Amino acid sequence: MIDFKFERNGEVELVEEELQSIMASLLGKDLGFYDLPLDDGLLEEVDQYVQDLKGSYDRVVVLGIGGSALGIKTIRDVLMAPQDRNRLRIIDNVDPDFIHEMTYDLDLARTNFVVITKSGGTTETMSLFMQMKNRCDKSGLDWKDRFVFVTDPESGLLRKIAERDGVKCFDVPPNVGGRYSVLSAVGILPAAMVGVKVSELMSGAGWMRDKFMDKSCEGNMVYQLAKFQSKFHKDGCNVNVLFPYSNKLMRFGEWYAQLLAESIGKNDGVGITPVTALGATDQHSQLQLYSGGPDDKMYQFIKVRKFENDDLIELGKDELLGEKFGFLDGVSFGKLLNTELDGTKESLCELGRPICELSLEKIDAKTLGALFMLYEGATALLGELLEVDAFNQPGVERSKVLTKEYLTKG
Ligand code: PA5
Repeated sequence: MIDFKFERNGEVELVEEELQSIMASLLGKDLGFYDLPLDDGLLEEVDQYVQDLKGSYDRVVVLGIGGSALGIKTIRDVLMAPQDRNRLRIIDNVDPDFIHEMTYDLDLARTNFVVITKSGGTTETMSLFMQMKNRCDKSGLDWKDRFVFVTDPESGLLRKIAERDGVKCFDVPPNVGGRYSVLSAVGILPAAMVGVKVSELMSGAGWMRDKFMDKSCEGNMVYQLAKFQSKFHKDGCNVNVLFPYSNKLMRFGEWYAQLLAESIGKNDGVGITPVTALGATDQHSQLQLYSGGPDDKMYQFIKVRKFENDDLIELGKDELLGEKFGFLDGVSFGKLLNTELDGTKESLCELGRPICELSLEKIDAKTLGALFMLYEGATALLGELLEVDAFNQPGVERSKVLTKEYLTKG
């Protein structure tokens, strides 16, 4: 399904004892993200809920932010056909123009809202909840019929409201942090509500979980990726360029940016800045910097071996075009794209840049599930290798406190 390889300047030494020791340290912590694919109970609960709702809604609107939204945004853009994507709207900001754009045409009586917040009290999410709840009230609808919550099983305001008003609630396991939660109800519930094959997502994640648990360095691509990043970060690379040659995977880059930035940016100086570059488009935008600029970056190329739609380029009978571009005749766009990937990778290899490559058989629910698990596991292991806590985010608290203070003062 997914292969991983180091390119020649990206080679790193893999050490069995190290793998065992960081795995033991990680597994000794109370973490739940890598066990989510084993949770058949969640799939059953979600399936039952979706069956019960059948026919009662045309559109799903998710209210959430950060780790409570980026996963489902990725699932939508990677797995839903373009003509279906408007069935799922995700409001993950309090930009008033964006809120208007997402809500002005909603038929509230045919819309189901999913409020997702692990803490149950994030300002942005709660303000959106208040707004939409009131809109339902004003339209004469019983808001409780139109809402479902995903939150902590015990703590937080949203849980209290659910208990007070009898709103259906799905749990975010307490030992699964926001940015590691896409394979919990946080991603799985809204995805299932719009018909995504969530059992395949989980089965792909389970496939990668097995690799993650593999005790041998050769069999554990999660460790290989983490080791690549830790080695080159220690060697001075503070920027990670994720370079997917696939438009669909751009959104995955956004999900990963949060995971890497919030998990690893710690201890007054450790941290890797995430950048996503789209192949081939950004060859005409960022590549000059990568080849000519500072050598402070590591690169992960993502190749898709088989595209769902892959037309052949036809030259037709144009002699002038034939003289210049005859070499394209009969070549598929997928082949052109992947050849550009190979060329770009080689050009950076020649300059000594550290590179690794992930190659996906195709893009589907299984590979996306496997990618989520790969990057979550690798980030957790990277935290071990760089000796940072990859599961907290103390640096975002101060801004929250100040915002509240300013609004309270008026
Ligand atoms: O990874 C995290 O924990 C954060 O990015 C959260 O996902 C984000 O702050 C939203 O929090 P909550 O789900 O509690 O609303």
